[in-house]
Amino acid sequence: MDLPLSSKRFQLQELSTQDSSELIQKDVLEGLFKRPRSLPPKYFYDDEGSKLFDAICKTQDYYPTRTESALLQKHTQEIIEIVKPSTCVELGAGTSTKTEILLSEHSSRSINEDIAYICIDVCKEVLIDAAHRLLDTYKNLQIKSIVGEYIPAIQAIEKIKSPVLYKFIGSSIGNFTEDEAIELLWEVANKMTSEDYFLIGMDRVKDKEVLERAYDDSEGVTAKFNLNVLNVLNYKLGTNFDLNNFSHQSIYNDKQQQIEMYLTSQCIQEIKFPVFDKTIKLENGEKILTEISRKYTKASIKNLLEKSGLKEAMHFEPSNKYFSLVLAKRQ
Ligand code: AVJ
Repeated sequence: MDLPLSSKRFQLQELSTQDSSELIQKDVLEGLFKRPRSLPPKYFYDDEGSKLFDAICKTQDYYPTRTESALLQKHTQEIIEIVKPSTCVELGAGTSTKTEILLSEHSSRSINEDIAYICIDVCKEVLIDAAHRLLDTYKNLQIKSIVGEYIPAIQAIEKIKSPVLYKFIGSSIGNFTEDEAIELLWEVANKMTSEDYFLIGMDRVKDKEVLERAYDDSEGVTAKFNLNVLNVLNYKLGTNFDLNNFSHQSIYNDKQQQIEMYLTSQCIQEIKFPVFDKTIKLENGEKILTEISRKYTKASIKNLLEKSGLKEAMHFEPSNKYFSLVLAKRQ
């Protein structure tokens, strides 16, 4: 049965036209026509890319998903008891699988009778699918799904009942540079009351080999995921990228404490951009940066929160210290 787009328990709000052809054109001009060349990671996630990402999460080499899920399982009860949320706001909700851990704990303890769940994501279909599933399972749940970029979506939230549990998990914050991360966290901190909490999942600095493997898994799923972004450009912009002419690379940059994913040109090639009436020439070995994934230490986490108007209330980590779940309050 199809979910009505608006009902007592479900509301869908679409902000702007962020996925419009104009925006992708601007992003590509800013990224690919400059040196070093880069592309924003958000274009990974078309249907195929989202499937590939789910497959990455299931590989042996990609430890973040299972590490964070186990941490959430272990500490959800404690988190719910501390926060007693009436509302949950999730940034980059995706399929909301990890949130179910929290919702099921919440409903089994019925701390507050109802819980409102606000999901923010750029992908409408994924949000609708997740809402379907959750509304079916949790009968005292109300969902508002906001399709859009994080900052405008946070700004668009109004009239929410405290205590609010804001969530930005999955190490998604790692895609942002330090300045971008501060800007986003600041926006949330600014929305928070003294009763609210912010749960953030962050990946930790560790052995270079473990990190690089996680982003270049032996099953080759991450390589497919990375290359798929060229398909996205091909059908959105009519470019002529040949995926066979590129190779996937993941490099850990010690100094910046970040994984960098690249697509490296395997020959001299010309890429045509009919919409701009322009061509770029790629050298053999020339790299396009497609993603950064920042890794944190306990100290750099504290520092980031400090600069973002937040402070650490609780810090959860597994014994191998591979990952951090931080529960923060506003300063
Ligand atoms: C979705 C941004 C958290 O950086 O680990 C996984 C994306 N890229 N493998 C990450 C990703 C390649 C992922 N995030």
